[in-house]
Amino acid sequence: MAVLVTGGTGYIGSHTVVELLNEGKDVIIVDNLSNSKEMVLLRIAEITKGEIAEDRLSFYEADILDYESLEKIFSENSIDSVIHFAGLKAVGESVAKPVEYYMNNITGTLVLLEVMKEFNVKKIVFSSSATVYGLHNVSPLTEELPLSTTNPYGSTKMMIEQILQDVYVSDNEWSIALLRYFNPIGAHKSGRIGEDPTGTPNNLMPYITQVAVGKREMLNVFGADYNTEDGTGVRDYIHVVDLAKGHLKALQYIDNKNIIEAINLGTGNGISVLGMISNFEKATGIKIQYQLVERRPGDIATCFADATKALKLLDWKAKYNIEDMCRDSWNWQQNNPDGYQ
Ligand code: NAD
Ligand code: UFG
Repeated sequence: MAVLVTGGTGYIGSHTVVELLNEGKDVIIVDNLSNSKEMVLLRIAEITKGEIAEDRLSFYEADILDYESLEKIFSENSIDSVIHFAGLKAVGESVAKPVEYYMNNITGTLVLLEVMKEFNVKKIVFSSSATVYGLHNVSPLTEELPLSTTNPYGSTKMMIEQILQDVYVSDNEWSIALLRYFNPIGAHKSGRIGEDPTGTPNNLMPYITQVAVGKREMLNVFGADYNTEDGTGVRDYIHVVDLAKGHLKALQYIDNKNIIEAINLGTGNGISVLGMISNFEKATGIKIQYQLVERRPGDIATCFADATKALKLLDWKAKYNIEDMCRDSWNWQQNNPDGYQ
């Protein structure tokens, strides 16, 4: 029996595929390569070489909105469960292109669920986000808090969570994990897979590593007047390999159960932007030029997880510290200054 991984050549998907293969699972990836490169597959094979027979991983270049392609994948393989990463994820872009975001993320999920139902596959782990906690909840954020969003991207996550709740109510043979990620950074220790943003990075860590490698002159620190220890925004950064392992634990948890659970995947620790800069400098010995600028619209002061539910239900907690995250992000950037190009 295999795990179908949608969006499996992407940043978090590729790290999760490595962990699944290392655990002895058969894996099928479906990805339309809209935000990833086929080269990722070679890198995954390289990392897992020696331990993994080639026939344990297959790849379909297909769009999850394409019903017939998904039917073909399900009919050609013996699929037991799905980890659903495929989606568009840029907050700013979602404000400019809402229809594209709703179409891709919502319709894509609906088509996937239709085909899963047709093939009687009822186990799914979904990539949600801490963005569903909105602007007003106070950290540490627990899973029962009321949800709200401020942009179309976040709304797609909240709506898909609702759709999955409704699916479960309609047929409680389903088993569903809604994983709310905090801020994934870092890369596999080999430095062969990592985050490869297109154009100017929106997120803090890829921006820092591009300054470090000389691709950008200086980091803009968005806001130094927040009500935080040093005035800059505080987030819960989590190593992508820890996050990947959380998916394996979630798969195990939903196996042989009929449940739906929303679970935070974060460390439970908040780090400020200036704190991140100094951790990066300490871990790598490289000085990061930065300037303090205006707040970025839509940002909140502080966002970190209450991570106790994941420990209790999944027996999972993050193992890597901030130094590991900085070192591994830098190792990836240094070895791949132009990403997968
Ligand atoms: P990513 O863009 O690297 O990976 C997503 C993958 O999905 C890409 O390879 C892309 O080509 C593919 N894809 C998109 N639409 C598709 C479609 N219609 N059909 C087939 N493939 C499609 O993103 P990521 O950082 O790995 O994020 C994975 C998931 O986690 C996303 O759903 C994202 O919203 C969610 N998430 C990410 C973060 C983060 O900070 N990276 C935080 C919270 C949640
Ligand atoms: N920041 C800077 N300069 C930059 C980039 C970011 O100062 O160039 C600051 C931000 O203002 C924020 C912190 O660094 O205080 C982290 O910003 P990111 O953009 O890395 O992450 P966010 O928390 O804003 O957003 C991330 C994901 C979203 C997701 C959100 C909530 O990118 O998709 O977490 O989980 F919705």
